[in-house]
Amino acid sequence: MRGDWLRDVVILGGCGHVGLPLGLALADAGLRVTLFDTNAAAVQTVRSGHMPHREAGAQEVLERTLASGSITASSEPSSVQSAECLIVVIGTPVDEHLNPDPQAVVNAVESVEQHLHDGQLLVLRSTIFPGVTRMVERLVERLGKSIDVAFCPERIAEGRAMDELHSLPQIVSARTVRGSERAAELFGRIAKTIVQVQPEEAELAKLFTNSYRYIKFAAANQLYMMANDFGVDYERVREAVVQDYPRAADLPGSGFAAGPCLLKDTMQLAAFNNNNFALGMASMQINEGLPLYLVSRMAARYPLDTMTVGILGMAFKGESDDTRSSLSYKLRRVLKVRAADVLATDPYVTDDSSLSTLEDVLARADLVVIGAPHDLYAKTEIDQPVVDVWNLRGGGVLV
Ligand SMILES: NC(=O)c1ccc[n+]([C@@H]2O[C@H](COP(=O)([O-])OP(=O)(O)OC[C@H]3O[C@@H](n4cnc5c(N)ncnc54)[C@H](O)[C@@H]3O)[C@@H](O)[C@H]2O)c1
Repeated sequence: MRGDWLRDVVILGGCGHVGLPLGLALADAGLRVTLFDTNAAAVQTVRSGHMPHREAGAQEVLERTLASGSITASSEPSSVQSAECLIVVIGTPVDEHLNPDPQAVVNAVESVEQHLHDGQLLVLRSTIFPGVTRMVERLVERLGKSIDVAFCPERIAEGRAMDELHSLPQIVSARTVRGSERAAELFGRIAKTIVQVQPEEAELAKLFTNSYRYIKFAAANQLYMMANDFGVDYERVREAVVQDYPRAADLPGSGFAAGPCLLKDTMQLAAFNNNNFALGMASMQINEGLPLYLVSRMAARYPLDTMTVGILGMAFKGESDDTRSSLSYKLRRVLKVRAADVLATDPYVTDDSSLSTLEDVLARADLVVIGAPHDLYAKTEIDQPVVDVWNLRGGGVLV
């Protein structure tokens, strides 16, 4: 009978930003889920009933699924053995020279190879370099196992996972009809729509999704700098452009395009295409250049070398505690060269001892920059001039 094969799911990388919400959604949908993660501290945090990172709506599902016994966490590789379905969602960052590591997911599968068995469905969910699905298929062939390999990319935005896992279409791909059907059945438990394609199509679909978004943010940021240099508030122009004009309705506001995915995946795609990705490379220059641009504008307008600058928000985006590849940190580094002193604060980032309290920053800073657009800062009373590239406070974005 359909679905009978599917009861136990193990998620390799299960306590990460993507693995944990997915595990919670699957457990809530009636499956028995084991979160296998090499990060013993994160495993312990999850076991004790706490989310290791902010994710709206996840805490209550964690408590519910732990209490019902439908979810467990382990750092023991043998936990993979019980899985009818193994989902791999480890991090796949580029290195310090922006090179992807096509071996990362293959190595992670290899690290549990003695616990793999015939009949399993092996789902790759990390964002991968094109061709990695084929590499894992070859590994499985070498091991002589009868395992269906599927690539089913994750496309949620951090912080919205508990909604988007249900509302977004799920792209599913496998070389065989059986693999594709089983993967569709797995994700059919949580997603309303399944889109079935070939593995190479799915690999590109995920990288195109993120690169396109990164390029759109770069377009907005370039136009922002152009308007700003002309002494015009980009936000007023943008509002005029998009008003009742559907063809430009998706023109983004200005702001830091950062975090662990967009730049990294654009660089994966560039590397895949022999570094021939002019739009992607230009987008990196623009988005990564925005903090430098802001500092040069501030220096032109204020005597920065005599001033203490306060940065509000160090996470890579609003309402998040994730500081990975956050441009607020780049902003701080650049400001430290130009300003007399730099202070930074974030209500959600708890593992950075260099941060100050909001009160302290507001008491000591001469000039304030919004780094991450946390809602809190929209309403905070601030006496100093504010550089607000996000237009969080509604006063425009002119610097
Ligand atoms: N963060 C996002 O918003 C997002 C969205 C869509 C897709 N993705 C993709 O999903 C993947 C995971 O990203 P993330 O943000 O969840 O990363 P993460 O670093 O938060 O999580 C990865 C987890 O894997 C664990 N891990 C690493 N190697 C392991 C191994 N060999 N065995 C078991 N556990 C291991 C780590 O300890 C960590 O907890 C990446 O490929 C990323 O590009 C991320």
